[in-house]
Amino acid sequence: MSSLLTIPVSTASHSYSIFIKNNLIKDINKILYKISTDKRRIFIITDKKIAELHLKNLLRALGNQNIIKPFILSEGEKYKNWASLQRILNYCLSHSIRRADIIIALGGGVIGDITGLAASLLLRGVIFVQIPTTLIAQIDSSIGGKTAINTKQGKNLIGTFYQPSLVLIDPLYLKTLPLRHLKAGYAELIKYALIQDNVFFKWLQKNHFHIFNGNTNCLKQAIAKCCKIKASIIAQDEKDRHQRLLLNLGHSFGHALESLLDYNSNKLLHGEAVSIGIVFAFSLSVYLGLCPEKENKIVKQHLDQIGLPTQASLWLKHPKQIQKFIYYLQQDKKSENQKLTLILVKGIGKAFIQKNISVRDIEDFIYFFLGNHL
Ligand code: GLY
Repeated sequence: MSSLLTIPVSTASHSYSIFIKNNLIKDINKILYKISTDKRRIFIITDKKIAELHLKNLLRALGNQNIIKPFILSEGEKYKNWASLQRILNYCLSHSIRRADIIIALGGGVIGDITGLAASLLLRGVIFVQIPTTLIAQIDSSIGGKTAINTKQGKNLIGTFYQPSLVLIDPLYLKTLPLRHLKAGYAELIKYALIQDNVFFKWLQKNHFHIFNGNTNCLKQAIAKCCKIKASIIAQDEKDRHQRLLLNLGHSFGHALESLLDYNSNKLLHGEAVSIGIVFAFSLSVYLGLCPEKENKIVKQHLDQIGLPTQASLWLKHPKQIQKFIYYLQQDKKSENQKLTLILVKGIGKAFIQKNISVRDIEDFIYFFLGNHL
């Protein structure tokens, strides 16, 4: 039997717990009573794929609770948009949602982000529980209260900071996660090591195959490590003003690629875009003389070994595509005064925030980088 791990999260706006345990969902009723009364109703938002795999079990565990018929969204990043948000808001309002009711997000990052946004808007805030079912959501997006939808101008440009009241992580959900998605999640996992923890990076170099072989103990250990790092970062900076920006390593480039590809998850999953973005960030750091080339090579080799993409040349072949990519980079939320702010590195485990990068310098770098990767 696996033991329950509890990780407290304490942000400026709200404190809550992350619970991690195999088969945790069985205990959901007991846990929900910690955050609401028995008068509440439960709204569940999920997607088609996750509904097929896990909705029945959740409903069974909830038993004879007062549950509103779940809302099931189509699957994929391209549905994290205005139209879906509006449909979720309508669904909740048409069932006369109340502040004491609970909205559960059962799914990956798309479901968590859009449900969190809806929860923050409805009645100016209703109780919201994250049940992340992908690696990316279990180690990153379900924690810390970033909510969002995408627009044609760029990724995650509309959103709020709205903390969940609980995060329930069951590592066994990852048993049904396709390998491609597990690998994509690994890009966010390794991100924590690359930002601030060389020892964790070495541990991952040794243990990564256990993660992909379905060793749930190893997976649970890695998930808990990431959750702890994230909890400590957001405790210091909930609203992305300083340290939290570090969690954006690889994301400016990654988001720009996702926007360029119209959020088409068949072409590129978010984590895959982050993997390429990490290589961009390390290569730019080397190009600027900030990071030894050796460290860049080690990281790229590791990502290649996992089978994550590390090149973008397929989508950045023509000057028009490159210009569009640079346009999306400029839409990044960290940009100030038409200059970019990027997360760069002095080596593995040594990320820092670099402000005032000119678009011209980035353009030069991108042509140099693509030239070396064609
Ligand atoms: N996913 C990055 C953050 O939560 O800040």
